[in-house]
Amino acid sequence: MTESMKPIQVGLLGAGTVGSGTFKVLARNQEEIKRRAGRGIEIAMVADLDTARAKAVAGDGVQVVSDARAVIANPDIDIVIELIGGYGIARQLVLEAIAAGKHVVTANKALLAVHGTEIFAAAHEKGVMVAFEAAVAGGIPIIKALREGLTANSIQWIAGIINGTTNFILSEMRDKGLDFDTVLKEAQRLGYAEADPTFDIEGVDAAHKVTLMSAIAFGTAVQFDKAHVEGITKLAAQDIKYAEQLGYRIKLLGITKRVAKGIELRVHPSLVPSKRLLANVEGAMNAVVVNGDAVGTTLYYGKGAGSEPTASAVIADLVDITRLHTADAAHRVPHLAFHPNAMSDLPILPMSEVVTSYYLRMRVADEAGVLAKVTGLLANAGISIDAVLQREADEVGGEGSTQTDVIILTHDTREGTLDDALAQLQALPSVLAPIVRLRKEELS
Ligand code: HSE
Repeated sequence: MTESMKPIQVGLLGAGTVGSGTFKVLARNQEEIKRRAGRGIEIAMVADLDTARAKAVAGDGVQVVSDARAVIANPDIDIVIELIGGYGIARQLVLEAIAAGKHVVTANKALLAVHGTEIFAAAHEKGVMVAFEAAVAGGIPIIKALREGLTANSIQWIAGIINGTTNFILSEMRDKGLDFDTVLKEAQRLGYAEADPTFDIEGVDAAHKVTLMSAIAFGTAVQFDKAHVEGITKLAAQDIKYAEQLGYRIKLLGITKRVAKGIELRVHPSLVPSKRLLANVEGAMNAVVVNGDAVGTTLYYGKGAGSEPTASAVIADLVDITRLHTADAAHRVPHLAFHPNAMSDLPILPMSEVVTSYYLRMRVADEAGVLAKVTGLLANAGISIDAVLQREADEVGGEGSTQTDVIILTHDTREGTLDDALAQLQALPSVLAPIVRLRKEELS
């Protein structure tokens, strides 16, 4: 460490929750961070439309402006932190910062999942780094683990709880037996869910994150448009209850998997065996399981959001850049783990080609031969049944009810095959309501 070296100069765009955490943690741990980075790290300039808020966050001695472009234009700034979010102005500013020769740290998963190819290419061309640890699972160093810690492995699959809002909602639904809408309102009241929670509850935020992890794990281009995205809005409390009776919990998983024909990339609610650690990740916590051929299964757990947890990831990126910015660009860690000229073109598979197991809930007429028809039809389709649960009609529909719920767990089958069988099942006169189909991941 050269004592005389002046601190690396950082400009911050967006002085919200994470920006404020970044200031606090940098100030509190500055000596240790300096000893790790080899020189000091100083946020010298902050841009935010709300300059009063930015001044309160930054304190004395930091230049506060309302125009982000003033930060990018400042020749003294070495690194720009983008904490604005979204695909709009953030994309412009990141590209302009790169063009100006600045390294970029961002927490913006939406931006990178959608425009990553363009942004990483621009950064490669210019010889600057774009670091994004904070974009996936907040404070959990999962990008570092996938990109560096696991480089020896052929990564086989990743499954993660990577959206805290939905995990909080699912935990509450299970604990209290409440339906989705009631819990969402409560989550908003407590500040766990955004006023507009669409990206969280529809699975989009998780899909952004798993898209980034998939690209790094398999060395493919970032392809959010090919991800299958399904949220938790249609999940019924009774399916959480039935799953529990069968030994499973329902989690919103981001899954990416290497299979013979290509790569699976999907977000949807999944039954997970209750005995798996992942099934026991509750509340707003995040966790990611990575399976590599050499290491086996590894698990990363922690806070996926919040001021200081996310700042922890932002600052780790600042330290990485401080250590590496003088290194020859060709010898730095590649943005997507694999060198740009050694990427794979493995295709992202359509859902019809995905192979997994399923939970089916059917409201049926409680009469002779119904179960035989259902199981016969599945047998004809080559779909093997793992377990069947049938509730007493009285319990389902009240005393004297002539309807009941049949729940079937299948073994692995191709989704296209299951879809065809479901269409036939749905057409049976004794099937009285739309069949509920959920996917099941054994994660073994
Ligand atoms: N909204 C995200 C979540 C946090 O609920 O996990 C930021 O990615």
